[in-house]
Amino acid sequence: MSNNTIEFLEVEKRYGDKTVVDGLTFHVRTGECFGLLGPNGAGKTTTLKMLLGIAEPDAGTIRLCGETIPARARFARQRIGVVPQFDNLDPDFTVRENLLVFGRYFGLSASKTRAMVPMLLEFARLENKADARVSELSGGMKRRLTLARALINDPDVLVMDEPTTGLDPQARHLIWERLRSLLGRGKTILLTTHFMEEAERLCDRLCIIEEGRKIAEGAPSALVEAEIGCDVIEVYGASPAALRDELAPLATRTEISGETLFCYVRDAGPVNARLAGRAGLRYLHRPANLEDVFLRLTGREMQE
Ligand SMILES: Nc1ncnc2c1ncn2[C@@H]1O[C@H](COP(=O)(O)OP(=O)(O)OP(=O)(O)O)[C@@H](O)[C@H]1O
Ligand SMILES: [Mg+2]
Repeated sequence: MSNNTIEFLEVEKRYGDKTVVDGLTFHVRTGECFGLLGPNGAGKTTTLKMLLGIAEPDAGTIRLCGETIPARARFARQRIGVVPQFDNLDPDFTVRENLLVFGRYFGLSASKTRAMVPMLLEFARLENKADARVSELSGGMKRRLTLARALINDPDVLVMDEPTTGLDPQARHLIWERLRSLLGRGKTILLTTHFMEEAERLCDRLCIIEEGRKIAEGAPSALVEAEIGCDVIEVYGASPAALRDELAPLATRTEISGETLFCYVRDAGPVNARLAGRAGLRYLHRPANLEDVFLRLTGREMQE
């Protein structure tokens, strides 16, 4: 078998006359964490649905754990843990019952599932909510339960659609730590996220898609170096257009997004010196990051 756990080759999906996934090719190597990034509506969830055999591609080839999808999706899914974009827990059941029911869905014995429950409750930090009904949980608690539930079958592969959306900062850091430990145990992870810090921390490689097409692919640090390759100074607190006129000659490149001016600089000295001590202005000098790459490639202005 190839050392790719997931393969997408020229995959296409149309809804009506709209092509929402357009010739998408990527692969996820066994044991790596791969990110799928892109603006709202880019086709991330549709891509994951095709991978799981929930949506049928109109063209192209998909393989998951060596199985052809969708034909053999049923077999592949035995080895997969899934976190959908929107939680689909049973609200009338307790936390513990939700886990037990899900174990049955995978054909696990009741005793085997019961033995998993304490570990899963610990994973989600829901130890003291085991007998609470899901309808009584907060949004973040439900999300954590959905994440824990995805591990019930001890999957080799995790497919997660925005795993940490809705989580508070502590919970997000907790989940990052836990996902990292799963990777350390050899699991393969495919995730989507709108949190660039999450992608930078967790993903070995990622691709950015826009309108169903891949527009960039690589390791986060390599993408930052290739697309930006210098430092950034963010300035806000005054008219960004006037500031741009003033600072553009001192920067490699400038961009305006909303009320913020972004100055890309190899040497921050001249811009910093010009801004120092100016009343009412706030500015921040930092290394370039994945968010700069994302915004540069997909446009800093909001789309729709
Ligand atoms: N069942 C469907 N029928 C028709 N159009 C759909 C369907 N599901 C998705 N779409 C369209 O496909 C496109 C991609 O949607 P998708 O949910 O894959 O985006 P996404 O990248 O996951 O976005 P988000 O970041 O907002 O979750 C959108 O234009 C959406 O309106
Ligand atoms: Mg989505």
